[in-house]
Amino acid sequence: MVFIFWFFVLDGLLLICMAQNVHHYSFFLRETNFTRLCTTKSMLTVNGSFPGPTIHVRRGDTAFINVHNEGKYGVTIHWHGVKQPRNPWSDGPENITQCPIQAGKNFTYEVIFSTEEGTLWWHAHSDWSRATVHGPIVILPPRGKTYPFPEPYAEPTIVLGSWFNGDVMELIEDALSTGGDPNISDAFTINGWPGNLYNCSSESIYTLNVTQGKTYLLRVVNAIMNEEMFFAIAQHNLTVVAQDAAYIKPVTTSYIMIAPGQTMDILLTANQSLSQYYMLSSPFFDSDAEFDNTTTSAILSYEGNYTAPTTPVNASQLPAIDDRIAAYNFSSRIRALATEEYPINVPQNITETQRLYVTISVNTIICSNSSCDGPDGNRLAASMNNVSFDIPTTDVLQAYYRNLSNVYTTDFPVRPPYYFNFSGDVGNNTLHPTVGTKVKVIDYGEPVEIVFQGTNVLTAENHPMHLHGFSFYNVGNGFGNYNETTDPSTYNLVDPPEVNTIGVPKTGWVAVRFFADNPGVWFMHCHLERHSSWGMDAVLIVKNGPTNETSMREPPPHMPSCS
Ligand code: C2O
Ligand code: CU
Repeated sequence: MVFIFWFFVLDGLLLICMAQNVHHYSFFLRETNFTRLCTTKSMLTVNGSFPGPTIHVRRGDTAFINVHNEGKYGVTIHWHGVKQPRNPWSDGPENITQCPIQAGKNFTYEVIFSTEEGTLWWHAHSDWSRATVHGPIVILPPRGKTYPFPEPYAEPTIVLGSWFNGDVMELIEDALSTGGDPNISDAFTINGWPGNLYNCSSESIYTLNVTQGKTYLLRVVNAIMNEEMFFAIAQHNLTVVAQDAAYIKPVTTSYIMIAPGQTMDILLTANQSLSQYYMLSSPFFDSDAEFDNTTTSAILSYEGNYTAPTTPVNASQLPAIDDRIAAYNFSSRIRALATEEYPINVPQNITETQRLYVTISVNTIICSNSSCDGPDGNRLAASMNNVSFDIPTTDVLQAYYRNLSNVYTTDFPVRPPYYFNFSGDVGNNTLHPTVGTKVKVIDYGEPVEIVFQGTNVLTAENHPMHLHGFSFYNVGNGFGNYNETTDPSTYNLVDPPEVNTIGVPKTGWVAVRFFADNPGVWFMHCHLERHSSWGMDAVLIVKNGPTNETSMREPPPHMPSCS
């Protein structure tokens, strides 16, 4: 094995990489002042930047990230989409796989990359801290290999984010104590800047300078808290070549729809006349819940001698906010690349015991004297199979590893407790969920199918469901109620996209399949932050296999303590 020593500088920190496949990063979590929309506030960041620093690795590498918490409250970091084979210890969700890194303490995550290639991201996984604590992960092909498309001229990252004028941690605390809807964001951002379509448009705007004739690989991350987004660049086509760090058959489109948690690698050729063009992003939102309906902008600026227009050319192809057909038309085009070099591994046969049918709903919990701020004086909640997840105070992983009782129960329902017309007139059916810390235990190596069923309970909307520790194949989807007799025959088992986050259409369903070949404790939840906070979460525990190589690793020596 060849060892290469080199140095590079990232955000002012000198980092030393010792072997070619091991990387070391230091993250300093601290309060930093930022001004956006003419409002200055102190917010938690990593190394003082928003979005935070980019992690660069190659396929199969390992990164050690030492997180120093210099902030005021406990935080954890999650490496979204990194499968972390046998290593749930470094996965990060608070009180699921670890307790928070307390203020003044540090913890080193060992982030193990395996089959991921493309773009992922990292984010805080404690309450709503991910609003300001997140950044991209760029995973290049292994040394000596290249992309399944021509080498791009440059590879800019494009991070879509949410900006709140207030403090996000207070915001979610308030919402959970009153039982009402959390405040919506005040702006969306592209690489940290709202752009010039808001008040205070004199502030900076992200500008991507391009050379005419060159092709760029945009690495797009949706780090937004509560809205799925459309994104488009005026007069330019986008060719999507990867999603969630897995290659797809190229899709050329004038706009994309990207859900919170998802990442896309997109080729952009600067093939228009010398000018400045708007990059715009606004939500896709087709429910009657409250949301931020603003538009964030950035500029694609050609280099060269020309007089720039007073306003950039408009991206008029951006779909209307409630255009679910546009959203569906884009999403339904995604297919895995599925070649000999980039093979896929889709379970072809599933037995009855390996199938989960899971309803996902927004609900309410009865509040004494109807004194809460949710509908009818009740408390807003959310559930999977009518269980609203209760986050424990000792992490589930530790409880599992040490056989502690009274932390969780293993009775997560694999079927809805009641059948009704989920996507139609639901009446009062399961308006109020039960509350519990219920996990589903799965044998090592089993092929698993999960069908997520969106319901019309309280309010229907699109839910981006995310699973830690795996990526899964999206083998089917549809509108209305899933039919377990007829719908499986419509599945794509040939080239389904391999993703870690999948949008379940409003009052529709999505089927995913994967092999449970990663032992550990893995969180599964809606990536709309308010739904996750309300309990639209569950945990899968994949048991150890028969050998050491199929069993969870030992815990690192110093997991953050729980009290
Ligand atoms: Cu992107 Cu559980 O998270
Ligand atoms: Cu949701």
